[in-house]
Amino acid sequence: MVKIAPSLLASDFAHLADEIVKLNKAGADMLHWDIMDGHYVPNLTFGPQVVKALRPYTSLPFDVHLMVQNPDEMIPWFANAGADIITVHAETCPHLDKTLDSIHSFGLKAGVSLNPATSEQVLEYVWDKLNMVLIMSVNPGFGGQCFIETQLEKISRVKELIGKRNISIEVDGGINPMTAAQCNARGADILVAGTSVFEGGDYAKNITSLR
Ligand code: DX5
Ligand code: ZN
Repeated sequence: MVKIAPSLLASDFAHLADEIVKLNKAGADMLHWDIMDGHYVPNLTFGPQVVKALRPYTSLPFDVHLMVQNPDEMIPWFANAGADIITVHAETCPHLDKTLDSIHSFGLKAGVSLNPATSEQVLEYVWDKLNMVLIMSVNPGFGGQCFIETQLEKISRVKELIGKRNISIEVDGGINPMTAAQCNARGADILVAGTSVFEGGDYAKNITSLR
């Protein structure tokens, strides 16, 4: 069954601990932290102190998505804050192979994210260092955007390239029950959802309808 990773970007920032406890009870499989630096993307969100402060509130894996200009500098910060998976954008890593080694050196799972306009070809020589490929189905920076349909083809291509390797495909942006079904059909393993998990307040029902 596809896993659901609610994005805390759409949560109530004034009550993050309560939100995390509620998502845990509602059946979330992991929690997705959108880390934005105001440079790589035009938005600013959580720093490592915030992530660390929330770590005791759940044992769900922390899936940390770095949308920052200097991921190499920040990997140790978020490893120490309690991340389980760290995903970097291929576009921000001039030495991607080395960056993935750095994530693994903390005993964490490593993911690479591809913007909508980035080809999966950038992964060609790092497959053996990957635990996850994060396919952005919106341009990073904000929640509540529309799913970019061309990314469905990318899911299929990545699935084929992964073959028998144990690498998950995560899709992020514009996920609702309809686009979730399309992603599932192409072989997505994890769906990140902000708006569609939080809207209306019944997180359990929303997570079930995404599955
Ligand atoms: C966008 C973030 C997403 C975002 C998804 O830059 O990476 O995780 O929160 O939000 P929705 O589900 O609202 O598109
Ligand atoms: Zn994200």
